Amino acid sequence: MANDAKVQALLPRRRLLQDVLGRPLRDLRLSVTDRCNFRCPYCMPRERFHDQYRFLKSSERLEFHELIRLTRLFLQLGVVKLRITGGEPLLRPQLADLVGDLTSLPGIEDVALTTNGVLLAQHAAELRAAGLQRVTVSLDSLDPAVFAHLAGGFGNLEEVLEGIGAARRAGLAPIKINTVIQRGVNEHTALDLVERFRGTGIVVRFIEYMDVGNRNDWVRDRVVPSQELLGHIRSRWPLTELEPGYAGEVARRYAFDDGAGEVGFISSVTQPFCGDCSRARLSSDGKLYTCLFAAQGTDLRAPLRGGATDEELLALIRAVWEHRTDRYSELRDNLRARGVQHVEMNYVGG
Ligand code: GTP
Ligand code: 5AD
Ligand code: SF4
Ligand code: SF4
Repeated sequence: MANDAKVQALLPRRRLLQDVLGRPLRDLRLSVTDRCNFRCPYCMPRERFHDQYRFLKSSERLEFHELIRLTRLFLQLGVVKLRITGGEPLLRPQLADLVGDLTSLPGIEDVALTTNGVLLAQHAAELRAAGLQRVTVSLDSLDPAVFAHLAGGFGNLEEVLEGIGAARRAGLAPIKINTVIQRGVNEHTALDLVERFRGTGIVVRFIEYMDVGNRNDWVRDRVVPSQELLGHIRSRWPLTELEPGYAGEVARRYAFDDGAGEVGFISSVTQPFCGDCSRARLSSDGKLYTCLFAAQGTDLRAPLRGGATDEELLALIRAVWEHRTDRYSELRDNLRARGVQHVEMNYVGG
C-alpha cells in the first residue's frame, strides 16, 4: 500500500475528464455512414427517408485516417470502448480496413459493431480477421411478415439469420441481438426470439421503443415497458437478475435459471440510465454529440481539416465533455412538452 501511494505520487497528475454530472467519457460510438439498406419505421420511415432524401455525400464523410486520428484522441481522454454504427455500417466500402486500424490502437478494450445483419454473411470472416471482437445484430421478429414490415420491406429474414450464423462461425463473440419492441406491432413475437436463441450463447436484448429523431411519429402508447415483457418471459422461463457486466451498462441482464444463458432489457423510457451515461457519438461527417437525443453537435471536421493540432482538438473535445449536462431520458416528458428537436438516429448512430 505504502509503495502504491509513493508510485501514485510520482506519476504525472492526469486530470480525469468528467462532465458536469461527474460522468466520465468511456465509450465512443462511431457512425461510419448515415445510409441504410433497411427502412425500419421506428428509425428511418420509408415515407420520410425516400429517394430524394439528402444523405451525406462521401466527401462530407470523415475519411478513415480522420476517424482514426479522432479515435486516438478520444482514447487519450479515457475512452476504452468503441462501437461502429451507421445507418448500416457494412455499407461503408472497405470497412474491414478501418476495423483493422481501429482495433490496433493502443488502449482499446472492446470493439463492437452494430448491424442489421443483411451483409454480415459476406463480411463476418474479414471483420474477425481484422480484429473485430463481436457484433450486435438488430432483429425485430422471426415472423417473416412482421420482419418485412419492420425492415420497411427491404432485406430478408433468412439473410439476417445467415449473417448471424456466419458471425458465429467466424468467432465473433458474444453475439447480441437487439430487438425493438412495439405494442401491437411485434410484441407478440418477442417470446419466439427468446425461445430460438436460448441456449445458443446468443444474447437477445429487448429495447423499449424510443422517441429518437423527429420523423418516426413516436407515441408512448406503443412502448411496452420492459417490466411487462420481463413478466411474460419469466412466467415461462424462470429468471434471476444479474449484476451489471460493467459500470454504466445499458442493458439490465437476467440469467435463465436452467442455465440457458441470459436475456437483456434496455429500458430508456421507463427506467432511464442517464445517471452513468459515458457515451459520446461521432456522426459520419465528424460532429460530436453527447446524447442520442441531442439537437446539435460540435463540428470536429472543420478544425480537423483546417489543420488543428492534436492539442487543439483535445481541448475542444475536453471542453464539450466538461460542459455536458445531457440526461434526456430522465427529462423526456418536460423536454417533449417543449417540442425539442433531436438528431436523427441513422445519422448519429444507435
Ligand atoms: P454492449 O456494449 O454490448 O453492452 O452494448 P450497448 O448496450 O452499449 O450498445 P448497443 O449499441 O447494443 O445499444 C443497444 C441500443 O440501446 C441502442 O441501439 C439504443 O437503442 C439503446 N441505447 C444505447 N445507448 C443508449 C443511450 O446512451 N441512451 C439511450 N437512450 N439509448 C441507448
Ligand atoms: N427505439 C429504440 N431503438 C431504436 N433503434 C433505432 N431506432 C430506435 C427506436 N426508435 C435501435 C435499434 C437498432 C439500433 C441501430 O438502433 O435497436 O438495433
Ligand atoms: Fe437501418 Fe438500423 Fe435504422 Fe433499421 S434501425 S433503419 S437497420 S439504421
Ligand atoms: Fe445518455 Fe442521452 Fe441516453 Fe441519457 S438519453 S443515457 S444522456 S444518450
